[in-house]
Amino acid sequence: MSWERTGARLRPIGPSSSQPQKPYTEMGSPPTGNTFAIVNQKGGVGKTTTAVNLSAALASLGRIILLVDLDPQGNSTSGVGISKTGLRMSVYDVLIGGDPIDHVIQRTATAGLDLVPSDVRLAGAEVELTATIARENRLKAALRTVRNHYDVVLIDCPPSLGLLTINALTAADACLIPLQCEYYALEGLSSLVTTIDLVRRHLNTGLEVSGVLLTMADPRTKLSDQVATEVRNHFGSKVFETVVPRSVRLAEAPSYGQPIIAYAPGSRGAAAYLTLAGEFADRIGLPHGSNLGAAVQVPASAAGVDPNGDGGD
Ligand SMILES: Nc1ncnc2c1ncn2[C@@H]1O[C@H](COP(=O)(O)OP(=O)(O)OP(=O)(O)O)[C@@H](O)[C@H]1O
Ligand SMILES: [Mg+2]
Repeated sequence: MSWERTGARLRPIGPSSSQPQKPYTEMGSPPTGNTFAIVNQKGGVGKTTTAVNLSAALASLGRIILLVDLDPQGNSTSGVGISKTGLRMSVYDVLIGGDPIDHVIQRTATAGLDLVPSDVRLAGAEVELTATIARENRLKAALRTVRNHYDVVLIDCPPSLGLLTINALTAADACLIPLQCEYYALEGLSSLVTTIDLVRRHLNTGLEVSGVLLTMADPRTKLSDQVATEVRNHFGSKVFETVVPRSVRLAEAPSYGQPIIAYAPGSRGAAAYLTLAGEFADRIGLPHGSNLGAAVQVPASAAGVDPNGDGGD
């Protein structure tokens, strides 16, 4: 892949470079390549929904984002509108074949958002990696050449604590843990925390837990409130103020291959992920459109949406 300059930024010219380019808002800071693993070995807690929609929302706030789909299910790949069946190469070729990651990066329909796609061959990667030298470091090594072209790199992890997730935790500066607002939200977290501690001790001393995100909250039930209180007691200020509500629109968006800010910009789900993007960027000290008052790429229909209203959801 070659690189082009947009303002002060380098942008990869990927396979989809024929798409019209929107000018990126120049935020006056060099890309830091801050890397986050979105991790929870529990299935269906909102990892992919958060990976896709936080990425797209950060891009809409003017940042340049790389989303890495590290799950053989490839839901982040299809979620941003890239067909899994038409893929020539994926993260599998990077991890197992040793191909350069910039051969795999694709530009998505969301301005400012690039993707490292996954495909089903990744399902065999856990086993194939076992026999590989520096098997825990493959993703970290691959990202080294490109991460500094991006403001944020988000890695969508599979629902397991195997070698793929270990690769994500080794490559990351920090992890973000989505927790579904359900009775057993905290169950199984001790093994996740143990894994994070082990990676920190042996592979990645700087690894932090940057945030815990409550997802699929139902404001009409007491249970969501109780779970939120319990999680906040446990994780304190690590828990994001923003809580993602249960939203039909968020569940529908992947089948249209669109992030929520494109599929239903006026919905509560879009508002939640835009608010989360602002909170997330503030936490990591990343200037963004909403706090600079700059021209941002938030869809007009999402601006001024009432987060408490149903917003078409
Ligand atoms: N806030 C929400 N409101 C309604 N549905 C949601 C919400 N977040 C996620 N979902 C739906 O719940 C299901 C699981 O979400 P998602 O795929 O994001 O979880 P996951 O943790 O990535 O799952 P897996 O562990 O299988 O990778 C999906 O069908 C998704 O569309
Ligand atoms: Mg997923």
